Amino acid sequence: MADIILAVESSCDDTCAAICVDGKILSNLVATQKVHEQYGGVVPELASRAHIQNIVPVVDEALKLADVTPQQVSAFAFTQAPGLIGSLLVGAQFIKSMALAFNKPLIPVHHMQAHVLANLIAEDKPAFPFLCLTVSGGHTQIVHCNSPYKMTVIGETIDDAAGEAFDKSAKLLGLPYPGGPLIDNYAKEGNPNRFRFPEPNIPGLNFSFSGLKTSILYFLKENELKQPGFVQENLADICASTQNRIISILLNKLKKAAVQTGINEVCIAGGVSANSGLRQALKDAGSELGWQTYIPRFEYCTDNAAMIAITAYYKFLQQDFAPLSVSPTARAEW
Ligand code: KG4
Ligand code: ZN
Repeated sequence: MADIILAVESSCDDTCAAICVDGKILSNLVATQKVHEQYGGVVPELASRAHIQNIVPVVDEALKLADVTPQQVSAFAFTQAPGLIGSLLVGAQFIKSMALAFNKPLIPVHHMQAHVLANLIAEDKPAFPFLCLTVSGGHTQIVHCNSPYKMTVIGETIDDAAGEAFDKSAKLLGLPYPGGPLIDNYAKEGNPNRFRFPEPNIPGLNFSFSGLKTSILYFLKENELKQPGFVQENLADICASTQNRIISILLNKLKKAAVQTGINEVCIAGGVSANSGLRQALKDAGSELGWQTYIPRFEYCTDNAAMIAITAYYKFLQQDFAPLSVSPTARAEW
């Protein structure tokens, strides 16, 4: 009999469902919430409400696309942490109800662990031990992975996450939320070496991005004052230079981690790994330094339920289940 996982991800503003059969993803759906754009960021109460509206049709469609019935599902999985508590609760309650109704095991999944394990979805996957640079809207981490069950965070941001650095810079440039993908697009037309933003000097494998945001703020103010319309006229170059600096901060620490651990299987994960400049920079570093590099498919980089499903599949193999009393939490170590 096949091991079939139905997984839901609802930690922020995307309502996602996926079906995984024996470690293969058969369907992966995302309902993106447009309602937040006008506010320049995610409004938690609106996110919870939209999850409630979306979750039934999204799960229904994921089952239909995979040609699976709820009765055939072996275990039900959901994102337990971290995230917006109201959003997490919608997914958790929904999946708990399904587990109860169909009398099947329940598997809670840590969102950041799932971003890392998204690298195990493809046929061509990293061999253990590997390093993963996990870069999202809320996290920036270098993770040392010994197995799907044993991972250690060996470096992380001491302030903003890489995704926040993209989004906050975009906001300063007058771009709508989330600005990361927009900076990526403008950067394609721009000169990454035109403007030089400072690289912070943080010890060890940790990151810092708050100084970059401040220096961009002063840079923009000063230049707009000297030359009104400066931002609009130079948008592509400013985006390319900002992206270039964020990538160099990330890659320099990743290179340091590879030297320290002696590991040359290297992958990236999280929403920011959708960035075309970062994807290219990782490949370039791989050819330069002899790393084997891995990048999840685009749809497995930003928030998705396929990554929750694959993580739950590995937990299923270990019979790592939770009772129905398990609760989501906004923050959680792992
Ligand atoms: O992992 P994710 O979808 O959600 C969180 O768990 O945070 O990451 C969202 C972040 C946002 O900050 C978004 O701007 C950023 O990923 N992002 C990008 C790109 N696509 C998404 N940043 C830069 N370039 C992109 N192409
Ligand atoms: Zn995420």
